[in-house]
Amino acid sequence: MLKGKVALVTGGSRGIGAAVVRKLASQGADVAVVYAGSEEAAEAICREIREEYGVKAGAYRCNVADFAEVKQTVNQVKADFGTVNILVNNAGITKDGLIATMKEQDFDDVISVNLKGAFNMIRHCTGLFIRNRGGSIINISSVTGIMGNAGQANYAASKAGVIGLTKSVARELAPRGVTCNAVAPGFIDTDMTKELHDSPLAASIPLGRMGKPEEVAEAVAYLASAGYVTGTVIQVDGGIAM
Ligand code: NAI
Repeated sequence: MLKGKVALVTGGSRGIGAAVVRKLASQGADVAVVYAGSEEAAEAICREIREEYGVKAGAYRCNVADFAEVKQTVNQVKADFGTVNILVNNAGITKDGLIATMKEQDFDDVISVNLKGAFNMIRHCTGLFIRNRGGSIINISSVTGIMGNAGQANYAASKAGVIGLTKSVARELAPRGVTCNAVAPGFIDTDMTKELHDSPLAASIPLGRMGKPEEVAEAVAYLASAGYVTGTVIQVDGGIAM
């Protein structure tokens, strides 16, 4: 149970992030929902979890790629909620393209959001975790960061980077009682993958179907309270990357 804990979830207004927000709130956590786009969607999920689970919730617009904006947001969450105990770095984008023609900007954008965004959040929350002598950091990677994927060199690099970041932070903060783990989803049915339903890759999933956002959220919730698990990568992928 996560009663009395404060979770900060990036990209929390839709897809996997929204499932994570609902799951952590269902276990009693107060939740700061960080979003980039739709204020309406972010406010709606905050309202929903307040009414459904009686937890505290707030929506914060923040571009995770912006170091100064992240600092300001973490300070605001601290002012509103008192601290952060659970950080879920879920915000992510794709800008797919073949390596021979990939635009420099598309490479930079994907690294900035997916990898530097996670760094920015961890960097600004770590002081709170150290003060609390504990905390859980959960980074959403991808099986693409483990296996690679043609047409996703930028995304794969960012998600492999997230795994390296996770293991280094896990080692560095272990003496402080802080855990840092990653979840690597396979093909999950969200806006990001709406064109993949009939692709050959989707057909090659051993369990024979795409995953649900709630199935990724289960793994995140487990890691949020697993005190003796750190530096690991949990694959939630229907067996695609075994
Ligand atoms: P989505 O596109 O539905 O959600 C992504 C969220 O990130 C959105 O709420 C968006 O507003 C937010 N976001 C994007 N850029 C941002 C920024 N600069 N600052 C703050 N927030 C930002 O995608 P989905 O599928 O829910 O993905 C969530 C995470 O799971 C991503 O990191 C993605 O790479 C990862 N993932 C998804 C898989 C899938 O099959 N759907 C598979 C493996 C990993």
